[in-house]
Amino acid sequence: MANSDSFWSGAAVVTGAGSGLGASMVQRFAAVGMAIVALDIDAGRAQETADSVIAAGGWAMAMGVDVADRAAMLRAASAADEAFGGCTVLCANVGVQQFGALDKLGEAEWRWVLDVNVMGVVNTVAAFLPLLRKSAGNRRICLTASSSVLFPGERIGAYVASKFAVMGYGETLRLELGREGIGVSILYPAGMESRHLESSQLAKPANIPGAVMTQEDIDFMLSSRNLDTAFHVATPEHATRNLLADMAADKPYIVTHGDYRAELIERNAALLAAFDRGQE
Ligand SMILES: NC(=O)c1ccc[n+]([C@@H]2O[C@H](COP(=O)([O-])OP(=O)(O)OC[C@H]3O[C@@H](n4cnc5c(N)ncnc54)[C@H](O)[C@@H]3O)[C@@H](O)[C@H]2O)c1
Repeated sequence: MANSDSFWSGAAVVTGAGSGLGASMVQRFAAVGMAIVALDIDAGRAQETADSVIAAGGWAMAMGVDVADRAAMLRAASAADEAFGGCTVLCANVGVQQFGALDKLGEAEWRWVLDVNVMGVVNTVAAFLPLLRKSAGNRRICLTASSSVLFPGERIGAYVASKFAVMGYGETLRLELGREGIGVSILYPAGMESRHLESSQLAKPANIPGAVMTQEDIDFMLSSRNLDTAFHVATPEHATRNLLADMAADKPYIVTHGDYRAELIERNAALLAAFDRGQE
């Protein structure tokens, strides 16, 4: 029963809903009859996502909002509550990418990445948790981390650090909300064909120093992660194919595609070896 359409009811809130993974998540939840709250810093794209749901006979509202702005997220939660009387699904999906070697990234760039990727997730949960708490039905939260946490690469250090924070936050949130019957899953997308680099540049506040991303950074990152693109890069639609079943089954971790098993085994072996040395 857990992955059947009848598991889902009420409204699903998705941040970063204007594009890529978020837009695909919206279509998945709309397809099982949920009302949609599409949030994105790009109000026009959020509206397009909501319009596509309404055109298919569903229910949706959209708002332009910066997840790093706590007050704006609280206003979005009030609007969603007014429209749909609560929510049962929350996908804190926004993340921005900032390329650059660690010794080249400035403080303002660091703060931007951490404000959006970490505090954005914290703000999203803080604003919408009261709606989940008061809603009947099965309740689930999904936080978008990244495969780069499982398999870090060079020149994306600020991003990787921010996604480790998402993972740490999510693991604790899962323990704390599990007591209330609210499931929390952490999603690890691998590479996707999306607007991620472009939308990150567009969303970057004008007062932050110029982009330090270069083609050399991108090439260096790709070679440091040794990606087999045919296997590790997919469409957002492919990446979300198991999302609802995994969330319904309250899986702690959801991997979209790709395989970083060898790197994980290597990391865990090094950690276990450290334990062994610590007990000598
Ligand atoms: N594309 C990849 O290869 C990849 C890989 C691993 C993880 N991810 C993660 O997946 C998530 C979705 O990325 P995507 O690939 O779908 O990118 P995308 O660019 O297609 O979508 C991201 C959306 O977030 C919005 N956004 C950016 N900053 C925002 C802010 N401050 N407030 C509100 N909205 C904001 C953008 O306008 C955009 O519509 C991100 O967390 C990203 O880090 C992406």
